[in-house]
Amino acid sequence: MPRVLSGIQPSGQLTLGNYIGAMQNFVKLQETHECFFMVVDLHAITVPQEPAALREQTESVASLFVAAGIDPTKASIFAQSHVSAHAELGWLLTTLTYIGELERMTQFKDKSAGKDSVGAGLFVYPALMAADILLYNADLIPVGDDQKQHLELTRDLAQRFNSRYGDYFTIPDPYIPKVGARIMSLDDASKKMSKSNPNPGSYIALLDPPDVIRKKLSRATTDSGREVKYNPAEKPEVSNLMSIYAHCAGVTLSEIETRYEGQGYGAFKKDLAEHVVATLEPLQHKYAEIRSSGAIHDILKQGADEVSEKANRTLRDVKERMGFLLPG
Ligand code: TYM
Repeated sequence: MPRVLSGIQPSGQLTLGNYIGAMQNFVKLQETHECFFMVVDLHAITVPQEPAALREQTESVASLFVAAGIDPTKASIFAQSHVSAHAELGWLLTTLTYIGELERMTQFKDKSAGKDSVGAGLFVYPALMAADILLYNADLIPVGDDQKQHLELTRDLAQRFNSRYGDYFTIPDPYIPKVGARIMSLDDASKKMSKSNPNPGSYIALLDPPDVIRKKLSRATTDSGREVKYNPAEKPEVSNLMSIYAHCAGVTLSEIETRYEGQGYGAFKKDLAEHVVATLEPLQHKYAEIRSSGAIHDILKQGADEVSEKANRTLRDVKERMGFLLPG
């Protein structure tokens, strides 16, 4: 069975962007693939994290995985730091990575722009992400558009390793949704929707209560026209809202265009809010159940147990190929 792997950082509230760009596909793929889904806590610390908040967020993101429909009996759900092979392979791959490659990463450029001191972890972050993927020889990586460049680097590193040390790693392919790979901010359609935006009105958090969702969407920026038409170049705000609508209502973009022909934005935005609420409310109920049951600790432990052997085997093979003297 082909293997799928992906991860989400526990570094703030997850947004509808994370859900549409990534999690919805996690849920879909678990039916047909062997799946590994991680809370990437080692990635989260590439920017400062308050320890209690990091612990809370790690539990929260893992619980959101389950609440969104990832079934721990079908997919392995685990915390990256629970499988120490990630950090170790991350280091080995860092030594194969060129500084120039890391300097070209747009996420690094964005996150370090204007900062006086930038942690080295933020710079070498993509090598750790490559390790996450290659450790399991994953075939398919469901992500949003913003991770495409990191995946290209992962493919390059796998090829570089294979050509230096003999064919070993699978070259992974991205799996990116056709619509919704880049959900944009509600107040500025030139920026992606992001949990790190200081304006909470710019994103829908998966745990936003229904009335907050309605308010945020009613205030979402549109344009001075009145046509509900999908045209990302000329109508970026409306097109973004249409992508969200399409995912939450399970309809196509052209069905939305037909449905709101000649009606202006009012009715469209109102219905959009109800579709988003209807998508998130069941997830929020399930989330509350999972959190109060305390089951997530066992789920994470079980996940780490399931994947550790595979991870350790890869690490051992890689070390052997690279010329490390193996113990014993
Ligand atoms: P992270 O935590 O920033 O985001 C998690 C996933 O959500 C997607 N995403 C979006 N998709 C559409 N529209 C948006 N506005 C939006 N915002 C976020 C991201 O593309 C991502 O798929 N480096 C990764 C985590 C990671 C990983 C991995 C992913 C670590 N190791 C191995 C895949 C495989 C990250 O920071 O994602």
